[in-house]
Amino acid sequence: MSILVTGGTGFIGSHTVVELQNAGYDVVVIDNLSNSSEKCLKRVEEITGKPVKFYKLDIRDREGLEELFNKESIESCIHFAGLKAVGESTQKPWEYYENNISGTLILVDVMRKHGVKNLIFSSSSTVYGDPDSVPVTEETPKKWCTNPYGSTKSMQETIFTDIQKADPEWNIVLLRYFNPIGAHPSGKIGEDPNGIPLNLLPYITQVAVGKRPFLNVYGNDYPTPDGTGIRDYIHVVDLAIGHVKALDRIKAKCGLAVYNLGTGKGYSVLEIVKNFEEASGVKIPYEICPRRPGDIAENYSDPSKALREMGWKAERGIKEMCADSWNWQKNNPDGYGA
Ligand code: NAD
Ligand code: UFG
Repeated sequence: MSILVTGGTGFIGSHTVVELQNAGYDVVVIDNLSNSSEKCLKRVEEITGKPVKFYKLDIRDREGLEELFNKESIESCIHFAGLKAVGESTQKPWEYYENNISGTLILVDVMRKHGVKNLIFSSSSTVYGDPDSVPVTEETPKKWCTNPYGSTKSMQETIFTDIQKADPEWNIVLLRYFNPIGAHPSGKIGEDPNGIPLNLLPYITQVAVGKRPFLNVYGNDYPTPDGTGIRDYIHVVDLAIGHVKALDRIKAKCGLAVYNLGTGKGYSVLEIVKNFEEASGVKIPYEICPRRPGDIAENYSDPSKALREMGWKAERGIKEMCADSWNWQKNNPDGYGA
């Protein structure tokens, strides 16, 4: 029996494949390669010493999925595949709803027709919107999302909740990620964004490697100690291990379960710059710019439920996250394109 990983050539998916293989699972990866490179699977194989079964397949391709489920023996699915750029989603809402929502509905339909009713879903702290207080627990009320990407995550959570309620044979774990950064310590796999990075760490590493002249710090007038935005950054390897732990919850027939995956500690933009400089030995020039529309001042998790119920906790600190992000970028200045 294998674990199906949709979006398994992406940033979080590829790190999760490594941890699944390390834990002894057989893995089948599908991805349409719209935001990733198949090359990363060669790197995964170098890290684990095990082959990865890969199908270039879109989750909206019902026939292709049918064929795959007829051919492979799948016990559970970890569902990463989706479009994820907040800004782009405001320009292309139809594409985001069609890809993320239609794709998920087709995947789930094919799964249930083949009697596979175990699923782990990549959700996001974005479902909490601008929370009234921090840290946020899983009981913190969800809020209206300010962009179509966030709405697709929130809607997918609702879809999974309703499906599990109607058919209790389903076991579904919704994992709400905070801000994943870092890379595998080998430096062989990491985040490889297309074009200008939208997220903080990939932008910083591109400044460090000389691809961009300076970092734009979006606002220093937030109600935080240094005025810059605070987030809960989590090492992608810790996040990946969270999925392996979630499979144990599936095996224990958890029904529907929701977990925050974060460290529980927030860092400001300027604290990240300082930690990155210390970890890499490279100076990061920056300029203070106006706030980025849609940003919030502060968000960080209460991850205690994941520890209580899954025995999972983030082990890697901010220095390690910065050092591993830098190690990846330094060794692969052009990502997988090199
Ligand atoms: P990523 O873009 O690196 O990975 C997503 C993968 O899905 C890509 O390889 C892409 O080619 C693939 N894909 C997209 N649409 C597809 C389709 N229709 N069929 C098949 N494959 C498809 O992104 P990531 O950072 O690894 O994120 C993985 C998941 O985690 C996404 O669902 C994302 O929304 C979610 N998430 C990410 C973050 C983050 O900050 N990175 C935070 C919270 C949640
Ligand atoms: N920031 C900068 N300059 C940059 C990029 C970001 O100052 O060039 C700041 C932002 O203003 C924010 C912080 O750095 O204060 C983090 O920004 P990111 O874009 O890295 O992350 P966000 O918290 O805005 O959002 C990300 C994803 C969302 C996801 C969320 C939680 O883009 O999709 O993390 O997982 F929902």
